[in-house]
Amino acid sequence: MGNKPAYTRNWTGKVKRNFATFADSLPRPLRILEIGVWEARTAVWMLENLNPAAYIGIDPWDRSLLDQKKFPENAEGEAKVWAIENLARENVRPFISVVTLIKGLSQDVMRDPAYEYLFDCKSFGLSYIDGFHDYDAAMADAINVWPLIQSGGVVVWDDTVALSDKKGKRNVNPIQQAADDFLRNKQFTELFRNEQYGVRKA
Ligand SMILES: C[S@@+](CC[C@H](N)C(=O)[O-])C[C@H]1O[C@@H](n2cnc3c(N)ncnc32)[C@H](O)[C@@H]1O
Repeated sequence: MGNKPAYTRNWTGKVKRNFATFADSLPRPLRILEIGVWEARTAVWMLENLNPAAYIGIDPWDRSLLDQKKFPENAEGEAKVWAIENLARENVRPFISVVTLIKGLSQDVMRDPAYEYLFDCKSFGLSYIDGFHDYDAAMADAINVWPLIQSGGVVVWDDTVALSDKKGKRNVNPIQQAADDFLRNKQFTELFRNEQYGVRKA
């Protein structure tokens, strides 16, 4: 593999649009925590554009958590997910001095004493929550991430757009719901509410 990053998916349009709104006002030196790395496309964008002193990315790269049609329970499925993890590790290689990739579920990794040294309270200026996409996971990630964020730091949840059912009725997105429920008694400023939800901690 050459030096140019390689990707299979493109999720960075919304990242560029939304992250540009707060990029210049992040706490410095900047530590970034990303939950859900996939092939590190957003990670590389953040590493190139936000110049962090540290980036920590957590992902289990576990076939059983992915679309079973695309990642079937067989050798081919295992090979495909292994290729994604490998791509992530290759893509961040140019930034290796500031990057830590941890293979595991966010809820396990962030409670694991072995990694305690990485997760000091109020030590991160940005967290991108893009792991398992349901209410409970988004809530668990919010609970674990919030104490780690500095005052003035930013938290972004991905995939928060309201979903329409078959009758066209707009339903509350479960990730947005988890973020709203979690933040009910917190001090923060809303930055954007679109396909992503971004807030700045007071
Ligand atoms: C949409 S992809 C992440 C995309 C990436 N943030 C980007 O923008 O390029 C979601 C990722 O979350 C990971 N994931 C699922 N459950 C997770 C969990 N409990 N903790 C951490 N990552 C998880 C999946 O393995 C998958 O790679």
